[in-house]
Amino acid sequence: APYSIVALVGSLRKESFTLKIAKALAKLAPASLKIDVVTLEGLSFFNQDLEANPPAEWLAFREKLKASNGVLILTPEYNRSIPGVLKNAIDIASRPYGQSSFLGKPVGLISNSPGPLGGVAAAKHLQNIMPGISGPVMGQPEIYLNGVGDAFDGNGELIKDALKTVLQQYLDAFAAFVAKQNG
Ligand code: FNR
Repeated sequence: APYSIVALVGSLRKESFTLKIAKALAKLAPASLKIDVVTLEGLSFFNQDLEANPPAEWLAFREKLKASNGVLILTPEYNRSIPGVLKNAIDIASRPYGQSSFLGKPVGLISNSPGPLGGVAAAKHLQNIMPGISGPVMGQPEIYLNGVGDAFDGNGELIKDALKTVLQQYLDAFAAFVAKQNG
């Protein structure tokens, strides 16, 4: 069976480029990976007061991560960092203390922006956040997708060949990384 990968989407926007990239990755995935695109709407704000009796949607979100063989985190860049909704989701998944749902999971970080810098500052923040609560974070190849604003047609299909090639190369590397961690 293929490894099951959760792709977290760090934007709630209906026409989100981040979401479109996640869907493109799911389509481009090599046979060894099955990518499940997971969006973050409906996740209430993390509040430590709720930890003893967590909301059902927190538990469902944690279970999805725990059942996976690896996680891709896709983020846009908001004010040189990651969006609050994504940080909230990561905080929810990281708890209870010592029982992070990311534990042991190989992680890949993918930032994007319609702008020229590809969301690199957001990706760098994820590189700070994740290692303390996850399995190994793939360091190489790095991927900061710039100029994504004209990468999709009206149906959300990826139409930029250069971007498709980069995503395919990244997926091949991530597939090898996941196989190694799960092997
Ligand atoms: C942005 N945007 C942005 N872009 C960037 O490259 N660096 C940044 O620091 C920011 N900051 C920022 C803050 C806020 C609050 C918003 C709403 C937007 C632009 C951002 O890249 C653009 O809106 C993307 O389309 C957001 O990603 P999705 O929703 O398309 O996935």
